[in-house]
Amino acid sequence: LGGGPLAGKRVLVTSGPTHEPIDPVRYIANRSSGAQGTSLGVALAALGAEVVFVTGPADVPPPAGVQVIKVQTAQQMLAAVQTALPCDAAIFAAAVADWRVATASDRKLKKTKDGMPELEFVENPDILATVSQMTTGRPGLVVGFAAETNDVIENATAKLQRKGCDWIVANDVSPETGIMGGSENAVHLIWDGGVEDWPRMGKDAVAQQLAGRIAAALN
Ligand code: C5P
Repeated sequence: LGGGPLAGKRVLVTSGPTHEPIDPVRYIANRSSGAQGTSLGVALAALGAEVVFVTGPADVPPPAGVQVIKVQTAQQMLAAVQTALPCDAAIFAAAVADWRVATASDRKLKKTKDGMPELEFVENPDILATVSQMTTGRPGLVVGFAAETNDVIENATAKLQRKGCDWIVANDVSPETGIMGGSENAVHLIWDGGVEDWPRMGKDAVAQQLAGRIAAALN
Protein backbone atom coordinates (compact mmCIF):
# COMPACT_ATOMS: atom_id res chain seq x y z
CA LEU A 1 0.00 0.00 0.00
CA GLY A 2 1.38 3.42 -0.96
CA GLY A 3 1.94 6.05 1.70
CA GLY A 4 1.51 9.80 1.75
CA PRO A 5 -0.94 12.12 3.48
CA LEU A 6 -3.65 11.35 0.91
CA ALA A 7 -3.27 7.56 1.00
CA GLY A 8 -6.70 5.95 1.00
CA LYS A 9 -8.39 9.17 -0.16
CA ARG A 10 -10.25 9.26 -3.44
CA VAL A 11 -10.05 12.64 -5.15
CA LEU A 12 -11.91 13.66 -8.29
CA VAL A 13 -10.40 16.32 -10.58
CA THR A 14 -12.06 17.89 -13.62
CA SER A 15 -9.77 19.55 -16.12
CA GLY A 16 -9.51 21.08 -19.56
CA PRO A 17 -12.09 22.80 -21.71
CA THR A 18 -15.28 21.29 -23.01
CA HIS A 19 -16.19 21.19 -26.69
CA GLU A 20 -19.80 21.85 -27.53
CA PRO A 21 -20.71 20.75 -31.05
CA ILE A 22 -22.30 23.06 -33.60
CA ASP A 23 -22.26 20.49 -36.36
CA PRO A 24 -20.08 17.42 -37.07
CA VAL A 25 -17.01 19.54 -37.84
CA ARG A 26 -17.43 22.65 -35.68
CA TYR A 27 -17.58 23.30 -31.98
CA ILE A 28 -17.55 26.01 -29.33
CA ALA A 29 -14.58 25.84 -26.99
CA ASN A 30 -12.38 28.01 -24.78
CA ARG A 31 -8.68 28.58 -24.23
CA SER A 32 -8.20 26.29 -21.24
CA SER A 33 -5.07 24.19 -21.78
CA GLY A 34 -5.70 21.74 -18.94
CA ALA A 35 -2.30 22.61 -17.47
CA GLN A 36 -3.47 23.57 -13.97
CA GLY A 37 -5.81 20.58 -13.71
CA THR A 38 -3.12 18.18 -14.88
CA SER A 39 -0.61 19.59 -12.39
CA LEU A 40 -3.20 19.10 -9.67
CA GLY A 41 -3.80 15.51 -10.65
CA VAL A 42 -0.06 14.87 -10.54
CA ALA A 43 0.36 16.61 -7.17
CA LEU A 44 -2.57 14.78 -5.56
CA ALA A 45 -1.34 11.42 -6.82
CA ALA A 46 2.15 12.23 -5.50
CA LEU A 47 0.62 12.61 -2.03
CA GLY A 48 -0.90 9.15 -2.35
CA ALA A 49 -4.46 10.00 -3.45
CA GLU A 50 -6.47 7.74 -5.69
CA VAL A 51 -7.16 10.31 -8.43
CA VAL A 52 -10.06 10.12 -10.86
CA PHE A 53 -9.27 12.61 -13.62
CA VAL A 54 -12.19 13.70 -15.81
CA THR A 55 -10.91 15.76 -18.70
CA GLY A 56 -12.18 17.56 -21.76
CA PRO A 57 -10.00 17.89 -24.88
CA ALA A 58 -6.93 19.49 -23.28
CA ASP A 59 -3.63 20.56 -24.86
CA VAL A 60 -1.52 18.77 -22.28
CA PRO A 61 -1.66 15.01 -21.71
CA PRO A 62 -3.43 13.80 -18.54
CA PRO A 63 -1.37 12.70 -15.52
CA ALA A 64 0.21 9.27 -15.82
CA GLY A 65 -0.83 6.50 -13.48
CA VAL A 66 -4.29 7.82 -12.57
CA GLN A 67 -7.75 6.87 -13.75
CA VAL A 68 -8.56 9.12 -16.73
CA ILE A 69 -12.06 9.62 -18.14
CA LYS A 70 -12.05 11.60 -21.40
CA VAL A 71 -15.13 13.57 -22.40
CA GLN A 72 -16.01 16.25 -24.93
CA THR A 73 -19.08 18.09 -23.67
CA ALA A 74 -20.31 19.52 -20.36
CA GLN A 75 -23.16 17.01 -20.26
CA GLN A 76 -20.68 14.15 -20.69
CA MET A 77 -18.47 15.67 -18.01
CA LEU A 78 -21.35 15.78 -15.53
CA ALA A 79 -22.21 12.15 -16.28
CA ALA A 80 -18.58 11.10 -15.82
CA VAL A 81 -18.37 13.00 -12.52
CA GLN A 82 -21.52 11.33 -11.27
CA THR A 83 -20.15 7.88 -12.06
CA ALA A 84 -16.87 8.79 -10.31
CA LEU A 85 -18.63 9.65 -7.03
CA PRO A 86 -18.45 9.05 -4.11
CA CYS A 87 -15.11 10.60 -3.33
CA ASP A 88 -13.44 12.37 -0.42
CA ALA A 89 -12.69 15.58 -2.29
CA ALA A 90 -13.63 16.99 -5.69
CA ILE A 91 -11.63 19.69 -7.45
CA PHE A 92 -13.28 21.39 -10.42
CA ALA A 93 -10.50 22.85 -12.52
CA ALA A 94 -12.27 22.37 -15.86
CA ALA A 95 -13.34 25.38 -17.93
CA VAL A 96 -16.82 24.13 -18.70
CA ALA A 97 -18.73 25.88 -21.48
CA ASP A 98 -21.66 27.77 -19.99
CA TRP A 99 -23.83 27.17 -23.03
CA ARG A 100 -24.23 24.66 -25.80
CA VAL A 101 -26.00 24.86 -29.13
CA ALA A 102 -29.55 23.72 -28.46
CA THR A 103 -29.64 21.28 -31.35
CA ALA A 104 -26.32 20.49 -32.98
CA SER A 105 -26.79 19.81 -36.67
CA ASP A 106 -26.05 16.24 -37.76
CA ARG A 107 -24.88 17.64 -41.11
CA LYS A 108 -22.26 20.26 -41.79
CA LEU A 109 -23.93 23.66 -41.93
CA LYS A 110 -23.63 25.16 -45.41
CA LYS A 111 -23.28 28.68 -46.61
CA THR A 112 -26.60 29.75 -48.02
CA LYS A 113 -27.66 32.73 -50.03
CA ASP A 114 -30.23 33.36 -47.28
CA GLY A 115 -27.51 34.54 -44.89
CA MET A 116 -26.05 33.27 -41.64
CA PRO A 117 -27.16 30.20 -39.73
CA GLU A 118 -28.96 31.05 -36.52
CA LEU A 119 -27.66 29.23 -33.48
CA GLU A 120 -29.87 28.85 -30.45
CA PHE A 121 -28.09 28.33 -27.14
CA VAL A 122 -29.18 26.56 -23.99
CA GLU A 123 -27.49 26.53 -20.61
CA ASN A 124 -25.20 23.67 -19.66
CA PRO A 125 -25.47 21.96 -16.28
CA ASP A 126 -23.25 23.55 -13.64
CA ILE A 127 -21.21 20.55 -12.49
CA LEU A 128 -19.58 22.30 -9.54
CA ALA A 129 -22.91 23.64 -8.25
CA THR A 130 -24.58 20.27 -8.74
CA VAL A 131 -21.96 18.43 -6.67
CA SER A 132 -21.66 21.23 -4.07
CA GLN A 133 -25.40 21.11 -3.44
CA MET A 134 -25.74 17.33 -3.16
CA THR A 135 -27.70 16.45 -0.03
CA THR A 136 -26.43 12.89 0.23
CA GLY A 137 -23.01 11.64 -0.71
CA ARG A 138 -21.48 15.10 -1.10
CA PRO A 139 -17.67 14.97 -1.12
CA GLY A 140 -16.23 16.23 2.16
CA LEU A 141 -14.35 18.99 0.34
CA VAL A 142 -15.53 20.66 -2.88
CA VAL A 143 -13.17 23.12 -4.56
CA GLY A 144 -14.00 25.33 -7.53
CA PHE A 145 -11.87 27.58 -9.69
CA ALA A 146 -12.80 31.04 -10.84
CA ALA A 147 -11.15 32.50 -13.89
CA GLU A 148 -11.91 36.21 -13.84
CA THR A 149 -10.75 39.21 -15.81
CA ASN A 150 -11.90 41.89 -13.35
CA ASP A 151 -13.00 42.28 -9.71
CA VAL A 152 -11.40 38.89 -9.10
CA ILE A 153 -12.01 38.56 -5.34
CA GLU A 154 -15.54 39.98 -5.42
CA ASN A 155 -16.62 37.81 -8.32
CA ALA A 156 -15.01 34.71 -6.88
CA THR A 157 -16.54 35.25 -3.44
CA ALA A 158 -19.97 35.61 -5.03
CA LYS A 159 -19.29 32.39 -6.92
CA LEU A 160 -18.36 30.53 -3.73
CA GLN A 161 -21.70 31.48 -2.22
CA ARG A 162 -23.79 30.93 -5.33
CA LYS A 163 -22.38 27.50 -6.05
CA GLY A 164 -22.05 26.31 -2.46
CA CYS A 165 -18.51 24.97 -2.71
CA ASP A 166 -16.05 25.04 0.20
CA TRP A 167 -13.12 26.77 -1.47
CA ILE A 168 -12.62 28.80 -4.61
CA VAL A 169 -9.23 29.16 -6.25
CA ALA A 170 -9.51 32.47 -8.07
CA ASN A 171 -7.19 33.75 -10.74
CA ASP A 172 -6.96 36.70 -13.07
CA VAL A 173 -6.99 35.45 -16.64
CA SER A 174 -6.80 38.84 -18.37
CA PRO A 175 -4.81 38.29 -21.57
CA GLU A 176 -1.94 40.50 -20.34
CA THR A 177 -1.31 38.15 -17.39
CA GLY A 178 -0.37 35.29 -19.76
CA ILE A 179 -1.91 32.87 -17.25
CA MET A 180 -4.41 31.12 -19.47
CA GLY A 181 -2.31 28.76 -21.56
CA GLY A 182 0.86 29.81 -19.72
CA SER A 183 2.93 27.93 -17.15
CA GLU A 184 2.43 30.28 -14.19
CA ASN A 185 -0.52 31.21 -12.06
CA ALA A 186 -1.28 33.81 -9.40
CA VAL A 187 -4.20 32.65 -7.30
CA HIS A 188 -6.28 33.64 -4.31
CA LEU A 189 -7.60 30.87 -2.09
CA ILE A 190 -11.04 31.91 -0.89
CA TRP A 191 -13.32 30.27 1.66
CA ASP A 192 -16.29 31.44 3.73
CA GLY A 193 -14.57 33.96 5.97
CA GLY A 194 -11.11 34.25 4.49
CA VAL A 195 -8.89 35.03 1.54
CA GLU A 196 -5.25 34.19 0.98
CA ASP A 197 -3.29 35.85 -1.81
CA TRP A 198 -0.63 33.52 -3.14
CA PRO A 199 2.35 34.91 -5.02
CA ARG A 200 2.72 34.22 -8.72
CA MET A 201 4.40 30.84 -9.17
CA GLY A 202 4.48 27.91 -11.57
CA LYS A 203 1.24 25.97 -12.04
CA ASP A 204 3.06 22.92 -10.66
CA ALA A 205 3.87 24.84 -7.47
CA VAL A 206 0.26 26.07 -7.15
CA ALA A 207 -0.87 22.47 -7.54
CA GLN A 208 1.57 21.19 -4.90
CA GLN A 209 0.52 23.84 -2.39
CA LEU A 210 -3.14 23.18 -3.06
CA ALA A 211 -2.67 19.43 -2.76
CA GLY A 212 -0.98 20.00 0.60
CA ARG A 213 -3.90 22.10 1.78
CA ILE A 214 -6.37 19.48 0.58
CA ALA A 215 -4.46 16.81 2.50
CA ALA A 216 -4.52 18.96 5.64
CA ALA A 217 -8.26 19.55 5.26
CA LEU A 218 -9.04 15.84 4.83
CA ASN A 219 -6.88 14.72 7.75
O1 C5P B 1 -19.25 30.14 -13.17
P1 C5P B 1 -17.86 29.81 -13.60
O2 C5P B 1 -17.82 29.05 -14.88
O3 C5P B 1 -16.91 30.96 -13.62
O4 C5P B 1 -17.34 28.86 -12.43
C1 C5P B 1 -16.11 28.26 -12.51
C2 C5P B 1 -16.10 27.01 -11.67
O5 C5P B 1 -17.28 26.26 -11.86
C3 C5P B 1 -14.97 26.09 -12.04
O6 C5P B 1 -14.59 25.37 -10.88
C4 C5P B 1 -15.62 25.18 -13.08
O7 C5P B 1 -14.95 23.96 -13.18
C5 C5P B 1 -17.01 25.04 -12.52
N1 C5P B 1 -18.07 24.86 -13.53
C6 C5P B 1 -18.68 23.63 -13.65
N2 C5P B 1 -19.70 23.48 -14.56
C7 C5P B 1 -20.10 24.52 -15.30
C8 C5P B 1 -19.48 25.78 -15.19
C9 C5P B 1 -18.45 25.91 -14.30
O8 C5P B 1 -18.31 22.68 -12.96
N3 C5P B 1 -21.09 24.36 -16.19
